[in-house]
Amino acid sequence: MRKILKWLGRLAAVVMAMVLVVLAAAYGLSAWRMARVYRIDPPVPVVPNDAAAIARGDHVASIRGCKDCHGQDLGSATFINDPLVARLSGTNLTPGGPGGKLSNVDLVRAIRHGVAPDGRSLLFMPAQEFSHLSDEDVGDLLAYLHSIPAVNRTPPANRVGPLGRVLFVAGKIPLLPAEIVNHHAVPAKPLVATTAAYGAYLAAACTGCHGPGFSGGHIPGTPPDWPDAANLTPGPTGLAGWSEADLKRALRQGIAPGGRALKTDYMPVRVTKNMTDQEISALYAYLSGLQPKPRGHR
Ligand code: HEC
Ligand code: HEC
Repeated sequence: MRKILKWLGRLAAVVMAMVLVVLAAAYGLSAWRMARVYRIDPPVPVVPNDAAAIARGDHVASIRGCKDCHGQDLGSATFINDPLVARLSGTNLTPGGPGGKLSNVDLVRAIRHGVAPDGRSLLFMPAQEFSHLSDEDVGDLLAYLHSIPAVNRTPPANRVGPLGRVLFVAGKIPLLPAEIVNHHAVPAKPLVATTAAYGAYLAAACTGCHGPGFSGGHIPGTPPDWPDAANLTPGPTGLAGWSEADLKRALRQGIAPGGRALKTDYMPVRVTKNMTDQEISALYAYLSGLQPKPRGHR
């Protein structure tokens, strides 16, 4: 008996030591990658200041999720708060916060490249979904950002916990956008129309959860109790048989065919409900023309 206990004690010590080594390696490697400096001086598109452009910028900020992570008033919001994974808030982008003091070059560098003014990668700011945004959309976004009133709210400091670092080092979460963005991406020149091409342009906002190939499955970095993202390709486990009206109802009201309520804590209907009829028609044209895939092949 004593021998077994002694052996168990040794085993526990070895396991502890291994966990510590993994954690130390994850901290060291992630800190090293977070410290990398990217020198990027992006061109700034024309920034209009008429009311129509500001209203379009407001709409772009609604449908691209900016308000979901930075707050409806863009005065900051905490969107992940898990001591083991991370505590992350979108910066206060109003004149009352640090984001409101950024120059246009700083803003474009953040939005299209995921890089902070000091050259380091921003944390979890999904620039990989924005690098292709058209000059018009980015110009209108900037016009809108310059028009919003000051909000005096300071979120808690961003930090990445031990599990977040292990998941990052293991390649499971897109923590550093500057590492994944295509820094040479050419801005799209989308024709705003009810076409699959325009739908593809809009659908980049869905890829973070539904995967680059839209077949859904586990969302990288989310806890196991999160539901899988749905398969949006027209296969039998996906949107086969969905009409355009079905898609509209799901994106506006969070209700799938048959009256099934979507889990809107996870599927951000608060974002997609802002899409116009034309945008939803374009998304439908794109999604229904995709190659059907089995669920979860990302
Ligand atoms: C998934 C959440 C998320 C979404 C969506 C998002 N952001 Fe962010 N954003 C962040 C986080 C987190 C930070 C802070 C990162 C840091 O401090 O390292 C940030 C930082 C920024 C910064 C840099 C602020 C600074 O002080 O350097 C700008 C500018 C910005 N976001 C604009 C936008 C715009 C515009 C959109 C929409 C097109 C957007 N963000 C969408 C999470 C998000
Ligand atoms: C933050 C993650 C996230 C983003 C971003 C997101 N989705 Fe989802 N979506 C989900 C999850 C999770 C589900 C599954 C919800 C459930 O099981 O009730 C889902 C379900 C759906 C469904 C229901 C499908 C079905 O068969 O039940 C549709 C349609 C959908 N999403 C479309 C979209 C579109 C279009 C976009 C982009 C404009 C988008 N989603 C962006 C997470 C997301």
